[in-house]
Amino acid sequence: MTALTESPAWQNLASLAEQIKTQHMRDWFAADPKRAEKYTRAACGIELDFSKNLITDEVISALQTLASDCQIAEKRDAMFAGEIINHTEKRAVLHTALRNFSGNPVLVDGEDVMPEVLACQQKIEKFVASVHNGELKGYTGKPLKEIVAIGIGGSFLGPKIMSEALKPYWFDGVKVHYVANVDGCHIQDVLASVDHEETLVVMSSKSFGTQETLQNTLTAKAWFLNAGGTQQDIAKHFIAVSSNIKAATEFGMAEDNIFPMWDWVGGRYSLWSAIGLPVALTIGYDNYRALLQGAFEMDEHFQTAPAEQNLPMILATLGVWYINFFGAQSHVLLPYYHYLRGFPAYVQQLDMESNGKRVSGDKTVTDYETGPVIWGSEGTNGQHSFHQLIHQGTVLIPADFMLPLNVPNQDDTHHAMLASNCFGQTQALMQGKTFEECKADLEEKGLSKDELDSLATHKTMPGNKPSNTFLFDKLDPKTLGSLIALYEHKVFVQGAIWGVNSFDQWGVELGKELGNQVLDKLVNTEAALNFDASTNQLIAKFRQANG
Ligand code: F6P
Repeated sequence: MTALTESPAWQNLASLAEQIKTQHMRDWFAADPKRAEKYTRAACGIELDFSKNLITDEVISALQTLASDCQIAEKRDAMFAGEIINHTEKRAVLHTALRNFSGNPVLVDGEDVMPEVLACQQKIEKFVASVHNGELKGYTGKPLKEIVAIGIGGSFLGPKIMSEALKPYWFDGVKVHYVANVDGCHIQDVLASVDHEETLVVMSSKSFGTQETLQNTLTAKAWFLNAGGTQQDIAKHFIAVSSNIKAATEFGMAEDNIFPMWDWVGGRYSLWSAIGLPVALTIGYDNYRALLQGAFEMDEHFQTAPAEQNLPMILATLGVWYINFFGAQSHVLLPYYHYLRGFPAYVQQLDMESNGKRVSGDKTVTDYETGPVIWGSEGTNGQHSFHQLIHQGTVLIPADFMLPLNVPNQDDTHHAMLASNCFGQTQALMQGKTFEECKADLEEKGLSKDELDSLATHKTMPGNKPSNTFLFDKLDPKTLGSLIALYEHKVFVQGAIWGVNSFDQWGVELGKELGNQVLDKLVNTEAALNFDASTNQLIAKFRQANG
């Protein structure tokens, strides 16, 4: 056994879980009319009702003991202080510096990074203003109205999903198109829809070496040159966000139009850096700043609120409870707000790339589960497809429901229906429907006894399925910033409990490496195939189909 699974706190939780499995939330709600109030907390405009969870006061306190034994507060402070907590890449983890409004310095290797961060923010502000007021023009003198934002992973998901979520705040007059996939269909579709004289391409790549992003940018460059632009005009229509200034200038970008990135910002945490430039272009700098402000407020909450009030701590320990003691292997996110529909995909990268790990500390292979599969989609659509499995399937799937209480441009009927579905789902998951209740319903229909027993068995819903419900007044930029930071810190706490390095991603490298070797064989059609038989066969078929 590892030190974690052997620890008294872990063992205590294991035995508590066995007791809890014999109980039902329905009975807890019946016995305690104040249960909802007791298990609701609020911070940064986000209210979290976690009363529909398989928890008692004893469970909560045992989870807090585990967190404290795992030194979460110390690890958190080390992150904010710029210590090298990403030990496999020997890097600090300081996305929090990018939204640091405290006025305090943040030191990396003894040097304050804040002046550079603030200078970059000013540069973004100025740039956004010059695009929005039409001062920045293309090579033929037309204002730049179409933004083609090219990036992938963290250099895409954050900006794309946040732009989508903040549709009510869009700046009128520019349109941002996001492209990530190397599938040429996407970039071709986007380029076909814009006028090259009015287009600004924002290439976002921390490394400036990611295959998909480079290829899509090269395709955009060829399109631009083909449409009449010259090599010299590239500087007016292509800008980059990257830590690889040399590669960006070699590409043809003006040095002034390269926005910096730093080693201490991980890809999936980079929304807060200049990688967020397309968001700022979408919603304007003031709204973008409010997004950062919301994240900063959540940082403050995470650092100062006691464990029992601390939203990231509550969410993280609940997750550990289900993953490690109830066998949950996935976690579903259900935003009941169309504009927030991309949020599950965002958290998917954040959580799965961070905690999809199997080594704890220096080199201990874990004997416990770590990061879950994160999935989900917007309500109410999922109710008519995958919710069935959450209600009656054989695996436990904890769910996060989220709903803004006020939404823009909507009539009340739609919003009330949306809210009723959201609340009704959490209720159904919690209480279920017993065999007797199902039978009583069917008896009125005059079924025979055999039919009754069979159908009632099929209809029985066990309930006791955990869910969190997040409410916010409206999803404005500040609240969205807080919500994203909340999940970032949840993921941090879970990684810290499991002892994994949440900030590297070695697992994606092998696929990239092999993909490049295969590409070589697809391009050099005469080259001998020396892979496994299946891969050889797939390559041969591709070669045949493509002449
Ligand atoms: O392949 C994974 C990854 O490294 C992500 O972590 C990152 O967000 C993405 O690729 C893009 O990287 P870059 O910004 O260097 O193009």
